[in-house]
Amino acid sequence: MPEDRGIVQDAPNVEETLRRMQAKLNGIVPEFELPPKAELAFRINRMKRERNAVILGHNYMEPALFHSVPDYTGDSLELSRISAQTSADVIIFCGVQFMAETAKVLNPNKTVLIPAEKAGCSLAEGIGVEDVRRLREQYPGAPVVTYVNTYAAVKAESDYCCTSGNATAVVRHLFNQGYDHVIFLPDDYLARNTAADLDAAYAAAPEPAAPGRKTIIGWNVRCEVHELYTIQDVERLREQFPDAVILAHPECHPDVIALVDYKGSTKGMLDYIRNEDAPRYILLTECTMADNVAAEFPHREMVRACNLRCKHMNLITLEQTLAALENLQYAIELPGDIIERARLPIDRMLAIR
Ligand code: 13P
Ligand code: SF4
Repeated sequence: MPEDRGIVQDAPNVEETLRRMQAKLNGIVPEFELPPKAELAFRINRMKRERNAVILGHNYMEPALFHSVPDYTGDSLELSRISAQTSADVIIFCGVQFMAETAKVLNPNKTVLIPAEKAGCSLAEGIGVEDVRRLREQYPGAPVVTYVNTYAAVKAESDYCCTSGNATAVVRHLFNQGYDHVIFLPDDYLARNTAADLDAAYAAAPEPAAPGRKTIIGWNVRCEVHELYTIQDVERLREQFPDAVILAHPECHPDVIALVDYKGSTKGMLDYIRNEDAPRYILLTECTMADNVAAEFPHREMVRACNLRCKHMNLITLEQTLAALENLQYAIELPGDIIERARLPIDRMLAIR
């Protein structure tokens, strides 16, 4: 379970909120930016209690927000699990649309809000319902696993969901059940990295599956942030920081993944840094996460080697989060049949450890 981030959240007034944020974000956020942010954070935390709301914050939220208002922080998998268990009346998802949709599927009778209605994702945009139906016809009998970074209508067409935290476990589960071919959508690189983990073949649809081998059939879209990391980036970092441990998200290209020391979900990377002693760490992922890790673990040395910000995550601000609470915007609405059909693959995912 992620940590309960009660410190700034429980501050009794604006002054104390500011003091705690300064303590946490010293050297991470410019000092002059903090007073207005502390004012916003205090108002959000007060209103959150009045509305019996819970705020879930993805690891890519900007540091002042991340360290001041979420009740829980985490990766997509952890936040899905928490949203399935909350007793709050209102869930505010400080993350992107597909994450808030997952929370809505798990809580159809609750108000689920996303602070910026246009916070999308290049992966979720890259696949539609018709694509999945066509793939099922092309590969009859192959189960469909969809990455959580898809819209609910696409999840409703699939057999299992997965996140970067459990993709390998979900596909292994299906291979162990006797399936030789698994359709894995939509992230091409995550699919290839999962195939490498399982020593399985990879076929890019509409290629045929490899004869006589377990095969993952993938689709041709990528994360617009992680696809930008290159082999040359890793080589240069190794040259400049030979003692650093390099960690990367599995949405990076397989050639990049082959060169790094650890691959994992945002939670996986956080846990690694918490638990493994190294002279310094470099994260190849959305760049805000390094700031959040540096604030969380001041005794760890982070090399800030990246400026790749996800433009979708960047839409979620403290101002927008306050507006979400004040106006109950933007509510996630999904058709009843989509909620019903998307629930099964999400529940199956949550059941696999
Ligand atoms: P995690 O599930 O690892 O947090 O990743 C979500 C995401 O959008 C990565 O780009
Ligand atoms: Fe989507 Fe990539 Fe942004 Fe994650 S970082 S939300 S995968 S575009």
